[in-house]
Amino acid sequence: MALTQLSTRMQTGTRNSAPASDETRIRIRDVTLSYGNLQIIGGISLDVAAGETVCIIGPSGCGKTTLLRMLAGLAKPTSGSVELDGSMIAGPNRSVAIVFQDYGKALLPWRTAAGNVSLALEARGFPSAERPAIIRDLLEKIGLGRHADKYPAEMSGGMQQRLQIARCLAQEPKVLLMDEPFGALDAMTRQVLQDEVLGLVASTGATMVFVTHDLEEAIYLGDRIVCLQPNPGRVGRIVDVSLSRPRDQLLTREDPEFLRLRRELYDLIKDDHQ
Ligand SMILES: Nc1ncnc2c1ncn2[C@@H]1O[C@H](COP(=O)(O)OP(=O)(O)O)[C@@H](O)[C@H]1O
Ligand SMILES: [Mg+2]
Repeated sequence: MALTQLSTRMQTGTRNSAPASDETRIRIRDVTLSYGNLQIIGGISLDVAAGETVCIIGPSGCGKTTLLRMLAGLAKPTSGSVELDGSMIAGPNRSVAIVFQDYGKALLPWRTAAGNVSLALEARGFPSAERPAIIRDLLEKIGLGRHADKYPAEMSGGMQQRLQIARCLAQEPKVLLMDEPFGALDAMTRQVLQDEVLGLVASTGATMVFVTHDLEEAIYLGDRIVCLQPNPGRVGRIVDVSLSRPRDQLLTREDPEFLRLRRELYDLIKDDHQ
């Protein structure tokens, strides 16, 4: 898909309900991962449908980042398999983009905002003459239109995280992996970015796996929530979120179903955190 088409879809698309697709985009089967004698992941199986948003919660150290790294092709399972569209994930792949919590390390400090986004286009072999228009479009879309010439050090945390997302979108990924991306941001910025990401995912049809330690964020964003248990990391429960889309920061969070889910998840995970 050309980026111009992507842009058009970003402007017009919305999704009102959980994705209808029953096409499996990610298939995780009996995955374990050990470092030396220490088993970190203890046998995870999980399917993620095309267009679905799955949120992953679980106590610190239970293997959430490790699981995402395997999906991104940055870590290899010790046993079991991870597939994208029926093919084993053997290494980093342009179809899978990852947004890290630590934007300070993810961005190149010597490149401007435009330069950082350009990186993804350069990696794809886009001719230099075509890059500026695409970069401008993406920065505009993510609210950084006026900041193309700023360096990361001149930007707030929220702006840097926006930039990391813009760079990922330049990859036109099928799968967006998010590792506690808003954990370091203030509550208001976090909510604005939640809505922007939901809008982008809805309009591009991307599949998202979103790790968070924030129960409410998981409910607000997800079609399903996977609760991981620690030592070694494994799937405890999977909770369906039937809240309608598009979601709304006030109405969705006041919905009795939202409050019921918050209580259910709280009861489920509080023992793991003790
Ligand atoms: N490269 C590594 N070598 C050894 N142990 C690791 C490595 N990466 C992560 N771990 C360990 O694996 C466990 C899970 O880590 P991680 O996936 O980062 O958890 P989470 O993201 O859920 O907090 C932790 O105990 C961590 O110390
Ligand atoms: Mg982590």
